[in-house]
Amino acid sequence: MEKKQLHKLLEQMTIEEKIGQLVQLTPNFFEETDGKGEITGPLMEWGMSKRELYNIGSVLGTHTLSQVHQIQAAYLKNNRLGIPLLFMADVIHGYETIFPIPLALASSWNPELIEEIASISALESAEAGVNVTFSPMADLVRDPRWGRVMESSGEDPYLNSLLTASYVRGYQGDADKLNENFNKIAACVKHFIGYGASEAGRDYNTVDFSDLVLYQDYLPSFEAALKAGAKLVMTSFNTIKGIPASGNQWLLKDVLRNDLNFQGLLISDWAAIAEMIPHGIAVDKKEAALKAVSSSVDMDMMTNCYQSSLKELLKEGKITEDTIDQAVLHVLQLKNDLGLFEDPYRGMKGKQQKTVTFTESIQSKARELAAQSMVLLKNKDLLPLDLKKTVALIGPKATSQDILGAWSWVGKQSQAINLKDALKKEYPDLLTVETDSLTKITANEWETIKRVAAKADIVVLALGESSEESGEAASKATIRLPEAQEQLVKVIKAINPNIVTVLFNGRPLALEEIAENSSSLLEAWFPGTQGGPAIVDILVGKVNPSAKLPMSFPKTTGQVPIYYNHMSTGRPMTQQNKQEKYISKYIDVANEPLYPFGYGLSYTNFIIEDMKLSATQLTENTKIVITVNVKNIGKIVGKEIVQLYLHDISAEIARPVKELKNFKAIILEPNQKQEVKFEITVDDLTYIHSNFKKSADKGFFEVFIGTESRAPKIAEIEYV
Ligand code: NOJ
Repeated sequence: MEKKQLHKLLEQMTIEEKIGQLVQLTPNFFEETDGKGEITGPLMEWGMSKRELYNIGSVLGTHTLSQVHQIQAAYLKNNRLGIPLLFMADVIHGYETIFPIPLALASSWNPELIEEIASISALESAEAGVNVTFSPMADLVRDPRWGRVMESSGEDPYLNSLLTASYVRGYQGDADKLNENFNKIAACVKHFIGYGASEAGRDYNTVDFSDLVLYQDYLPSFEAALKAGAKLVMTSFNTIKGIPASGNQWLLKDVLRNDLNFQGLLISDWAAIAEMIPHGIAVDKKEAALKAVSSSVDMDMMTNCYQSSLKELLKEGKITEDTIDQAVLHVLQLKNDLGLFEDPYRGMKGKQQKTVTFTESIQSKARELAAQSMVLLKNKDLLPLDLKKTVALIGPKATSQDILGAWSWVGKQSQAINLKDALKKEYPDLLTVETDSLTKITANEWETIKRVAAKADIVVLALGESSEESGEAASKATIRLPEAQEQLVKVIKAINPNIVTVLFNGRPLALEEIAENSSSLLEAWFPGTQGGPAIVDILVGKVNPSAKLPMSFPKTTGQVPIYYNHMSTGRPMTQQNKQEKYISKYIDVANEPLYPFGYGLSYTNFIIEDMKLSATQLTENTKIVITVNVKNIGKIVGKEIVQLYLHDISAEIARPVKELKNFKAIILEPNQKQEVKFEITVDDLTYIHSNFKKSADKGFFEVFIGTESRAPKIAEIEYV
């Protein structure tokens, strides 16, 4: 449909029809009538009529194609102008095939791979009638107590931006061709903004940070998503400068709509508009609706604030019809972009779901991706496993199907392949002891564990959390594994020190004891449907691990928030001064994390040598080319991710001690050497200054190159 026609359609709409378009509800609103046409259930609770229901703009959270079709058909029969409904859902790390959780995917440091996954997620969910996914989550995270770190790409703005854009491209393909490409869906980047900075890692808590931090750390990933064409943005629950995001005019109008030039559909998070009441900045739903609509929030997810108040606000002259029209146009525009006016079923009418879902090729992709996302944290020579040895698999995650992770609502645990089933294929005589609970080991279990551990050459210990322990509303004050699991490693070590620990979890954990007592340690995260086979591919060396942490692992919870790119301080701790008192340090624990950002081992070793710089001075129009040689000095082929960091030492504003600026992945055969080239331009030196303009400081910058964020300084360059 031409844009002109959308305006014509708008002209034909009554004010009730317009307001309806701005409302999003769950499918059960369409189910709950008593069969005689009487209104029951949520409709009754909300005082909504059936007529109002058939004017709403969108539904969220359907499960099947037939459910979508049923609702759409009934809706179109009843909607006066035949405006189709828009179906949205949380497709976060796969739809039916579940891929590793986003934090794991970020560990692959592989933008192309993530684009591929998003593309498969789009394929499977489009086939189930989904038009929009509430993904990617672009929130920067620094606090593993916050359960939602599992949905993020970690602590670095550069990596976060790169990967966020990949998700958008994967879901949407060509953003201008969604009306033709029915195997693609629209992406809603969320949560605008700062949700990842919830105080003390407690979900839905206050956020308070400076504009500097907003621009430097939190905005870039949203900017990247919008540049990649994301069609929607979701507001966050938290406050920014004291005002909840969904009613924050400065944030949404000045920053998002104006500065970032976002012209698409802005949707509130679930009930976020009404939550301005407990926030204490709106006395009732009407005032909340006024604040949200005046801030350019187009769609109200799951409250009746807009439904019940916009008409009255208009009558009272508190808002204009133009404000409502703008919001409605954003909704109609998105429907049009998705081709819904021409085909409300996007090519699926009369078709069966499951032609593209869960195919063998998708499963093998899921396996490949999962293996690429697992981080080898420690290896004292036990890995890869020797197939001739006797292996015992022990622990609460050994046979667990709970390996998908949160936000996998359509994916079925029963379809996941657990570690035992996969490992048994390599070790037909595998000894296994399942322990029933994550937090307790019974006397009987202890007895069997000790006996079996003594019999085996190597013990593979499967430890971790349940899916519910991370994700939304799953914050933790202590990020250690339960005592019983720590005990398990200790006790087994006394019997058999050859322990390979495999971890299933959704957040960085404080692992000091477990790491100390294990010979090898593999972070498998929540690896998804193909988790078991992917872990085994790594354990037996069919795949050489190459993933790198996208978030630091602290030694202890008290170090949190701990992130590599923290600000420079006036009294930094160094190797030389660390014994002194009046410096920035703890007196009871080291400053450093257990495993830093960018860290991850391989079964081979690489060295970086022969560093060369094309120049040491940079001007506005020149660049510096840095080359290094990377050599595989081990015995097997492997992939290394070479990382470039900078530090501004003559800045206007105190800068992070290190900032990732670029990275390159290379695959090398044993003894193979390859040149890796990085270019530094002024663009890499720029940041938002106190005048809120992006520019670079004249003066000196330190350059670091290595295989993790502890990369050594290799040079100093000057911007002249
Ligand atoms: C609340 C969550 O914060 C958001 O991420 C999600 O997309 C919505 N619920 C919809 O389920």
